[in-house]
Amino acid sequence: MKPAILVARAIFPEVVTRLSSHFDIEANQDDQAWPADEFGRRLQGKQGLFCSANERISADLIVACPQLKVIANMAVGFNNIDVDAATRAGIMVTNTPDVLNETTADFAWALLMAAARRVGESERWLRAGQWERWRYDTFLGADLHGATLGILGMGRIGQAIARRSRGFDMQVLYHNRTRLPVDLEAGANGAQYVEKDELLRRADHLVLVLPYSAATHHAIGAAELALMKPTAVLVNIARGGIVDDVSLIAALRERRIAAAGLDVFENEPAFNPDFLTLDNAVLTPHIGSASVPTRLAMAACAADNLIAGLSGQRPPNLLNPQVLSLP
Ligand code: GLV
Ligand code: GLV
Repeated sequence: MKPAILVARAIFPEVVTRLSSHFDIEANQDDQAWPADEFGRRLQGKQGLFCSANERISADLIVACPQLKVIANMAVGFNNIDVDAATRAGIMVTNTPDVLNETTADFAWALLMAAARRVGESERWLRAGQWERWRYDTFLGADLHGATLGILGMGRIGQAIARRSRGFDMQVLYHNRTRLPVDLEAGANGAQYVEKDELLRRADHLVLVLPYSAATHHAIGAAELALMKPTAVLVNIARGGIVDDVSLIAALRERRIAAAGLDVFENEPAFNPDFLTLDNAVLTPHIGSASVPTRLAMAACAADNLIAGLSGQRPPNLLNPQVLSLP
């Protein structure tokens, strides 16, 4: 008998077809918003789960599904899953690293440029028929070329963002839990390691690329925002909760920083509506990895992990290898 799996959200039809040849599959191709209890009921008796970063996989859910063996998250971030609880239950958890690095780095630049040069705000003004009011100081923004780019969190996406800054003749400063080896610093446009406070003070613009965890919760709050330049643009393409959104809204409203480009929010998709009142915020709905080839690659990667894990092989992107040595 084929193992049973649940695909939590709609996904490319070709991926459903591929999964169907390996598994007895229940797929949510209508993309129904299942309430938590219904999701839990559908997961009962399934050995595999294919999910996105939008599904919260709690310890309670894990305990309630003893047949579950593999959770394949179609995202690089996995703070939506209680990995410790999964490990205790002997469940493999996988993510989709690397395939999205370049696409996500591209999008960090899209947000940085849009926020610095006021693209969203000026487009809304044009669409509202205001062009007749153009004058010399309409939508003056900040330059990127020649500026100092700060990167908080210097993993592979951070390095891909840094590499792109060479074309803008930027100096790169970064802070990370651990300092990069010199060859990787050189490859990241000569990025220079500094302490976090120095990064906040010296960066003309700051991009956040940290994973979310208890340790990075509100890594950028009122105190950190107060260190930034009033001309600075802040970009968050990482996770909601890294930034204290209430403090950020206050800083943007009072122009204590110039602008922000935000792809992620606390409590998304039910984010703080005060963001909508700010002209100096560019807001996107968590689409950093959303190019056709990259989303296809992420889906294929999650499918590879699920297929390997449920056929007795080690999934290529296993996050909790401890489960393999459990009795
Ligand atoms: C998207 O946010 C991801 O973690 O892949
Ligand atoms: C900031 O917008 C955040 O993601 O918390």
